[in-house]
Amino acid sequence: MSEVRRLLEKSGYSNKAIEYYLKKVNVGRIENPSVHATYTGPCGDTLEVYLKIESNVIKDAKFQAVGCAGAFSSGSALMEMVKEKTLEETEKITETDIISFLEGIPKQKIHCACLASRTLQKAIEKYRSSRADT
Ligand code: FES
Repeated sequence: MSEVRRLLEKSGYSNKAIEYYLKKVNVGRIENPSVHATYTGPCGDTLEVYLKIESNVIKDAKFQAVGCAGAFSSGSALMEMVKEKTLEETEKITETDIISFLEGIPKQKIHCACLASRTLQKAIEKYRSSRADT
């Protein structure tokens, strides 16, 4: 077992969360996204979300982050959870849902899941207001 994996496991990350973090699932950018949004949380970490939306359904979702393992695993999970979901379904996803999907992250990292969900909500709001302008 790698040292990083051992440390993450010891601090309370599930195997699934560790896999998502180490494999950088859904980390990246989308060329010509329907919308992208950036949000910086109170901890100072930042997430940037890119969405491809067609007929109100999220067809692709990626993110980049300057953040901790909690931010990366939560971002990876959330991008996975929203694919093929409508915007309305996506808006119902809470940080508790993200943590359940990951099968556990350390308690003190719950705000990292909030960072992911707030950035996504901001992207949806931005998308809606850009559509309202046209
Ligand atoms: Fe800032 Fe995890 S400590 S997102």
